[in-house]
Amino acid sequence: MVNEYELGEREFRRISAMAYRIARLNLHEGKRMLVQNRLSKRLRALGLPGFREYLDFLDENPEEVRVMVDCLTTNFTRLFREPEHFDFLRDEVIPWMDELDHERIRLWSAGCSSGEEPYSIAIFLREHMENLDSRDLLILATDISARALAKAKEGVYREEQLRDCPAPWRVKYFTRIRVNGETYYRVSPVIYRMIRFRYLNLADRWPMKGPFHVIFCRNVMIYFDRDTQQELVLRFYDYLVPGGYFLVGHSESLARIRNPFVYCRPSVYRKTSEEGPRKSEASERPSTKHREGKASIAEGAG
Ligand SMILES: C[S@@+](CC[C@H](N)C(=O)[O-])C[C@H]1O[C@@H](n2cnc3c(N)ncnc32)[C@H](O)[C@@H]1O
Repeated sequence: MVNEYELGEREFRRISAMAYRIARLNLHEGKRMLVQNRLSKRLRALGLPGFREYLDFLDENPEEVRVMVDCLTTNFTRLFREPEHFDFLRDEVIPWMDELDHERIRLWSAGCSSGEEPYSIAIFLREHMENLDSRDLLILATDISARALAKAKEGVYREEQLRDCPAPWRVKYFTRIRVNGETYYRVSPVIYRMIRFRYLNLADRWPMKGPFHVIFCRNVMIYFDRDTQQELVLRFYDYLVPGGYFLVGHSESLARIRNPFVYCRPSVYRKTSEEGPRKSEASERPSTKHREGKASIAEGAG
């Protein structure tokens, strides 16, 4: 289908500068068609004739910037995405958290999109963690996309979205519902209650204090440039408890980012147990404890 809206270079530059200023989205020239396609829908909804008029509209309606940024985010996700991370949770992280008896446990899904990631974590913890009900455990799930967050809070998914959820867990943690003759699955309250969904732009000040035991920031930083990644990684480090874990997506890596983390395995990092000055730099060589695997270097600038 031919797009009736053409995004010229000048307009593209203004839009990408705005997206960078607000959300640090790295929309380089190669993304022009993507921006054109994503925003065309919005122009149509607003009944505007072209991108020049959309920029005027943005000037007159500053709150539109949030909607624009929302349209420009990539929200692809799925339940139990990157299963190796869940194996790692079971084998290393959960035993560590189990030992921290009586302490409050906090996890953060930063860039949670439509909720599949935090729901997967919650289900997994419920299945594998000892005495979960007697623990003070919560998962904070944040995103900049209001659309994705609304879907996350709804917690209703189509059958095909549950294909990576083991069948017994589907039965246990989802209720089958029919909407307009179609089958959907609604996440159960026992899982929903473990999560707090919040709007948060990672480029802004973070209002929560932390600290967290595990931070998942998977498949989010690929949309940022190196300076932003650098800044965020150090902020995430500060928000972890000593010994806390930091997980990025498998196509991401901290290999080219200065950081004080201890490398555990590809896409998994740990804050050192003893609080030291934040000066040392982690190398992507496995620590003595985790010898398997090699860093995935792909920076996947997307
Ligand atoms: C591809 S999804 C990843 C979802 C999930 N973490 C996963 O790995 O399946 C990336 C998410 O990052 C969010 N995001 C992008 N820029 C952001 C920002 N500046 N602040 C907060 N979230 C952002 C997007 O809205 C999107 O939902």
